[in-house]
Amino acid sequence: MSATLIDNIGTLVTNDPQLGEGLLGQITESAMVLDGPRVGWVGPRAQAPAADTRHDAQGACILPGFVDSHSHIVFAGDRSGEFAARMSGQPYRAGGIHTTVAATRAASDSRLQEVARWQRAQARMQGTTTLEIKSGYGLTVADEQRTLRVAGEFTEETTFLGAHLVPEEYRADPDGYVSLVTGDMLAACAPHARWIDVFCERGAFDAEAARRVLEAGRRWGLGTRIHGNQLDHGPGVQLAVAERAASVDHCTYLTEADVAALAEAARRGPQEQTVATLLPGVDFATRQPYPNARTLWDAGATVALASDCNPGSCFTSSLAFCIALAVREMHLSPQEAVWAATAGGARALRRSDVGHLAPGARADVVQLEAPNPVYLAYRPGVPLVHSVWESGTMVYQ
Ligand code: NIG
Ligand code: FE
Repeated sequence: MSATLIDNIGTLVTNDPQLGEGLLGQITESAMVLDGPRVGWVGPRAQAPAADTRHDAQGACILPGFVDSHSHIVFAGDRSGEFAARMSGQPYRAGGIHTTVAATRAASDSRLQEVARWQRAQARMQGTTTLEIKSGYGLTVADEQRTLRVAGEFTEETTFLGAHLVPEEYRADPDGYVSLVTGDMLAACAPHARWIDVFCERGAFDAEAARRVLEAGRRWGLGTRIHGNQLDHGPGVQLAVAERAASVDHCTYLTEADVAALAEAARRGPQEQTVATLLPGVDFATRQPYPNARTLWDAGATVALASDCNPGSCFTSSLAFCIALAVREMHLSPQEAVWAATAGGARALRRSDVGHLAPGARADVVQLEAPNPVYLAYRPGVPLVHSVWESGTMVYQ
């Protein structure tokens, strides 16, 4: 197993306050050793051990790869027209999901693979080393299963979202659709999924149906997560906390009681907590209000940032863009936003091996074309990713 020394690091973000300064555990004038697929050592340059090869970071910032805990990149079709209509005043309608469902059902496996491969590659070039991928644009047993098979070619973090919307053919029988999702569809999909998710929102699934979906998923050994509080105040956050879901995503409309529940949930510890996953790109692309992440953070909630990359509500895969929005519009500090897009995402996926760079962590590493992590928010829209390593192997430069 060969070891690589990354030397001459301007600022190393470890996300471990015991290893360095502040929330991000930053070590300046530092070095790190990638020992095969793991981080072997981090510390001051002067103390760096020998290694087989040396990479000169030339004073740049090194940080853990982004952990994007929410995406829907297996789909077909185009909805740019909806975006343009929203920008001229139309509201976001989750019903647009049906457009993508029709296109996805009609697409070949190889077309779905092609779309996912390109989306995954673009995310990697922007520093994302862990990417969760959901189904949810098939909504038949066969189409949900093949979506998850395709997703599984690109990630180990696959999520079954058969309960995305009631498809048009079940419009007269929504309960029948929930029975399908929790029965045959789940049986076909569970072997290909790690998580189950449900869109708990008016017009999608109510709290009772959502609870049925999560309970069924748990019986198949899946972890649980919820799309909630996106379009209105709704039951999603409270349900997620009560069900001990790993995260509740969107959180655009939060009451004080929701914030308090998320703060309380954070106190349960890494394997039991419910993370508040904010999706600033969605609020941007749907002209929704931005939730106040400052309030959540100060209350003690665990906050993650994710892209929600999908053709309808938000078609970005850039966590740097999400960080910039979270700083400018949601009142996180640049350091907090970087933490939320790395360590926060790892918490949302209940992963302890990614999202930080302490010895033993997976060597998922990003080098920026910048001296410190503040630049991610300070230089929005600029491609700052210089190099990416996944499990110790350089995958982009
Ligand atoms: O996370 N909220 C539900 N689902 C997606 C949007 C899907 C779409 O519009 O195609 C989301 O925003
Ligand atoms: Fe989503």
